[in-house]
Amino acid sequence: MDIERQFEGYRQAALAAIAAAQTPQELEAVRVEFLGKKRGRLKELQGLIAKVSPEQRPTVGKLFNEVRTQVEAALRRRKAALEQPRRAAEGIDVTLPGRVPALGRRHPLTQTMDEFKDIMGRLGFDVAYGPEIEDEYHNFVALNIQEDHPARDPLDNFYLATARTQTAERDRTAVLLRSQTSTVQIRVMERQPPPVRIVSLGRVYRPDTVDRTHHWMFHQMEGLMVDVDVTMAQLKTVLRLFATAFLGQDVAIRFRPSFFPFTEPSVEVDMWFDGDWLEIGGAGMVDPNVLTAVGYDPERVSGFAFGLGVERFCMQRYGIGDIRWFTENDVRFLRQF
Ligand code: PHE
Repeated sequence: MDIERQFEGYRQAALAAIAAAQTPQELEAVRVEFLGKKRGRLKELQGLIAKVSPEQRPTVGKLFNEVRTQVEAALRRRKAALEQPRRAAEGIDVTLPGRVPALGRRHPLTQTMDEFKDIMGRLGFDVAYGPEIEDEYHNFVALNIQEDHPARDPLDNFYLATARTQTAERDRTAVLLRSQTSTVQIRVMERQPPPVRIVSLGRVYRPDTVDRTHHWMFHQMEGLMVDVDVTMAQLKTVLRLFATAFLGQDVAIRFRPSFFPFTEPSVEVDMWFDGDWLEIGGAGMVDPNVLTAVGYDPERVSGFAFGLGVERFCMQRYGIGDIRWFTENDVRFLRQF
């Protein structure tokens, strides 16, 4: 019977197309073609049933249902097979060497500062933090730096444009990028009574012409210790132990008389390293005016403070020749640490 041959042709074509589909998308196209409700080829076959004689109709109808059920079942199976995730082991040569993932690492300055915190932590110093945008009170006034002091010159600082710089509250409202981490001394003493033993590490900013050893942004480690009977000898010992621990060999520390408004006496600190005296920062005994400004009693407690340049130490230890490399983000440089 002609109609039976048509059913058979449909069945074979449909099963072959289903088996040939390689993706769920291809299979969907096959479904539309062979089983689609609107214009699919199955629909055409169904139309043929109406044309056979009433006696033949039950047989033809039964055949039609068989073919349809079979094709639908084949489609379902193929769909399930295609949607199953590919087995991971398929086609993988387990004897090939693996791909090494590219690991990031901390910036050399971050590594240096983390190590500083470690060393100072072992000496009993906690880590304190302060904002990089500071008011004049904490950057200057409380540190005993008078209004007419050259350090406050607008040309030597990054003042930020704010609305109310001329009011009586200027100290608290004029803000700048902090020029030193000594600001954190004030912030710590304001919120806790003595004894204090902290370090604070972070960025400071000063307008400067950039060259191999100068940058308008660099890092300092501030140290502060306030208690009864704190002495300058302790300051020198702490600095020597710190530098020795970081550089891995015995380092000598030299003090040269200097001046800072917030310490008295004040010194420049040098260290003897690798056959040379190197300047590493400033230090001194906390000025009584500073202790008074934060509500401490200078008759009862004394303290020392120091501020060290972080880049200096890092460059010294690794033999880095140019401070600009720290901020250029050249991975050929950064990968070496
Ligand atoms: N703040 C000083 C500077 O940036 C360094 C310093 C810190 C000096 C603490 C004395 C005490 O130059």
